Amino acid sequence: MGLPISCSRLYSLNSENTDELKNLGGIKNEQGLLILGGGSNILFTGDYKGTVCLNELRGVNLLSESNSTVTVRVAGGENWHSFVLSCLDNGWYGLENLSLIPGKVGACPIQNIGAYGVEIKDFFVSLRAWDFEKEEIVSISKEQCQFAYRDSIFKNHAKGRYLILSVDFKLKKSPELNTSYGIIEDKLSEMGVKQATPKDVSNAVISIRQSKLPDPDKLGNCGSFFKNPIVPKEVAEKVLSIHANAPVYPVDEFSSKLAAGWLIDQAGWKGFREGDAGVHKNQALVLVNYGNATGKQIYDLSSRIIQSIIEKFGITLEREVNIL
Ligand code: EPU
Repeated sequence: MGLPISCSRLYSLNSENTDELKNLGGIKNEQGLLILGGGSNILFTGDYKGTVCLNELRGVNLLSESNSTVTVRVAGGENWHSFVLSCLDNGWYGLENLSLIPGKVGACPIQNIGAYGVEIKDFFVSLRAWDFEKEEIVSISKEQCQFAYRDSIFKNHAKGRYLILSVDFKLKKSPELNTSYGIIEDKLSEMGVKQATPKDVSNAVISIRQSKLPDPDKLGNCGSFFKNPIVPKEVAEKVLSIHANAPVYPVDEFSSKLAAGWLIDQAGWKGFREGDAGVHKNQALVLVNYGNATGKQIYDLSSRIIQSIIEKFGITLEREVNIL
């Protein structure tokens, strides 16, 4: 998150050479190894003592094709947004709602990235990974990934076990637009679009993200810092009884999802700044680094926010970013 860190060594992974991957396993066991995608969802609270490995594997390959779908294999080091744009150029549809998400393809399954009603699990087939335990390349199916809202095995029991080499997606050859998020419809009509194409939806998403979310290249941030909390229905009803217009999304019979950004906004944090650590002025879910805040300062700010939401709403927010 735009913070100065140091590590003992930087390693660039450019090929799937087995000896090289075994060697990385040795480094991992001896001094620690951090596999970095784009680093866009990590907060470093101090220097990293071990080796940082940058996934620089490249390539997009068409594996198979039917009348209506294509299956493509994308190397883990490919930039996510460039891949989404190349899909649109090739007439491969489905990922347009996920335009402009920062980071690399190899990182996208870790938290099952999602935006505007679409998650990568909707188009994910399987991935190939180096298994540091078995010391071989393995294939991991969608079921094995156990995808959930901003979650997968890679954030839980399989944390640190795999290096994601490539991801296979099954995409559509005919557009099936998902404009269920009202804000996309609003943006398309503002753009004067009548019969939207996937490229129009991508442009609408890019425009929405640019207006709400700070560009990490210009203002350090990790996107959403917290997950939207899923709470028992009664808790959501209590919030609604006080704030009739609170955004509440039904999850199932027993639970509802609340908007963490709205809760933080209500608690008065939007636009807050202390030193170089702050809360974004347009989206309270995003913590920002105006320049020289340390990871520890950003982390401490997030702890204060969590505490204030407990006090105001009795709800405990969970961090969405990876803290190191
Ligand atoms: N809201 C406020 N004040 C704020 C922020 C939000 O009142 O400061 C309200 C909005 O008006 C809206 C609701 O909260 O009614 C939800 O806000 P928004 O639609 O902006 O989405 P979000 O729930 O804050 C999630 C994802 C984003 C994703 C958007 C669009 C999570 C943790 N975040 O944000 O993902 O782009 O929906 O689908 O689920 C990310 O993961 O880094 C990320 C940016």
